[in-house]
Amino acid sequence: MVCYRKIKVPFSNIFFIRWTPKKISPIHSHPGVESNMFVLKGKLNESLYMNLGDKKGYYMINNNVITPYQCSHINDKKGSHTIQNISDKYAWSVHYQKSINPS
Ligand SMILES: [Fe+2]
Repeated sequence: MVCYRKIKVPFSNIFFIRWTPKKISPIHSHPGVESNMFVLKGKLNESLYMNLGDKKGYYMINNNVITPYQCSHINDKKGSHTIQNISDKYAWSVHYQKSINPS
């Protein structure tokens, strides 16, 4: 069973994610973007990781449970993360991503 289903709002940088109960995403980053998440329903656990580089793996630096009407944000400076739906039902979140333009 898939970890999540992403639904993009046409003509925008906004999308909704429906998170499968108990599933966890792989560790991943959001290169070149500011990624914002707002939880609508359920409980999501976000673990934040520092990439040790050179195939040395990751080091967990923070862990947070995000509940409805709370936000989270990640970018290249913050690191990589996993998201897990820790509730027994589908969880929903809305996301807004903005590209970082080097100046
Ligand atoms: Fe992510």
